[in-house]
Amino acid sequence: AMAAERALTMVTCTAPPNIAVIKYWGKRDNDLILPINSSLSVTLHQDQLKTTTTAAASRDFTEDRLWLNGQEADMGHPRLQACLREVRRLARKRRGGSNEDVAPLSLSYKIHIATENNFPTAAGLASSAAGYACLVSVLARLYGVEGELSEVARRGSGSACRSMFGGFVQWQQGERPDGRDSLAHQVAPETHWPELRVLVLVVSGEKKHVGSTSGMQTSVDTSPLLKHRAEVVVPERLEQMIRHIQERDFEGFGQLTMQDSNQFHATCLDTFPPIFYLNDISRRIIALVHRFNAHHGCTKVAYTFDAGPNAVIFTLADTVAEFTEVVRRSFPPATNGDQFIRGLPIGSASLSEELLTAVVTETLPGAIQYILHTKPGPGPQLVDDPSQHLLGADGLPRRCA
Ligand code: DP6
Repeated sequence: AMAAERALTMVTCTAPPNIAVIKYWGKRDNDLILPINSSLSVTLHQDQLKTTTTAAASRDFTEDRLWLNGQEADMGHPRLQACLREVRRLARKRRGGSNEDVAPLSLSYKIHIATENNFPTAAGLASSAAGYACLVSVLARLYGVEGELSEVARRGSGSACRSMFGGFVQWQQGERPDGRDSLAHQVAPETHWPELRVLVLVVSGEKKHVGSTSGMQTSVDTSPLLKHRAEVVVPERLEQMIRHIQERDFEGFGQLTMQDSNQFHATCLDTFPPIFYLNDISRRIIALVHRFNAHHGCTKVAYTFDAGPNAVIFTLADTVAEFTEVVRRSFPPATNGDQFIRGLPIGSASLSEELLTAVVTETLPGAIQYILHTKPGPGPQLVDDPSQHLLGADGLPRRCA
């Protein structure tokens, strides 16, 4: 049967978050979401962190509807509307140019969208990046659009364009005012560096902070350091970072990752009025990482922080157990002792007296809620199994929160 004749057409996709090692901070165009500098990120594995989105279209639907984690939400959000409009525009363009005799899904049908994260928003990992990458993937599939989609995901959230690919991903700032060259592309696949691991250290306490969108706007308006960063520092660092990744040089990769995170937070301090994303626990994690590396005489672990206090740690597989034990000794779990480590399994490590004395110099019980262990992963995936759809045959959410 032709798609348009079916009562209901439904597609489900999953998409990953990503963590930038060369940060995006600042727009030159707020509506098109065009950045003032290029950026580079690592896509995280969807076994541990993913957004799932189902989209359905039907001639029987009377309005567009959206559910976030089971709760109905406003479909009118301008960025969501921009993504929807752009995918439909690409679909129209594609259909105009082809002479397929299969009637495509009608672009005038109303749609229902349900989306869910398998990770708590408290993890502070840009859920908007995974969310918009997932939305665009699912809509593209629904309307039969293929090809370059990072440009559309970018309209949802800047960092979302990097979640359209797995592994190591660059978002090229582009030069054109219309944004057609502001795209993401893969620098290396997730298989390129099999030993690379990621530890998300979820810190305790309130999660209130200035949102990225408004924070970066104030930085663009007031920070001379941000201007210097975008014009001078990032172009050099991007090239270096790509080289470190290509050579799987953890020393170089880790150092530059920490330096770029620190410069991003320095531009926040240089913003007027200043923005503070790091808290005291973040700073203690930074100090701990430096003591750990100093003890080993090289860069064994590297931290990076986005617009919140949680640390994302990069390391290699052979260091995970030892560093995790150091974190556990420094920030002993308050209550959830057995849930302290989540994600990929971690072996046990016994720490030498020497390391303990040099590195575990203070203890802050309860300061870290849990550690999520993951690794680089692939880009958005189509979910074939219909039992995984978040919407039922009636077009309404299957499970309610
Ligand atoms: C600090 O992509 O969330 O995580 O484009 O306004 O939606 P909008 O901002 P967003 O900013 C991410 C900022 C960052 C750094 C990064 O991911 O590169």
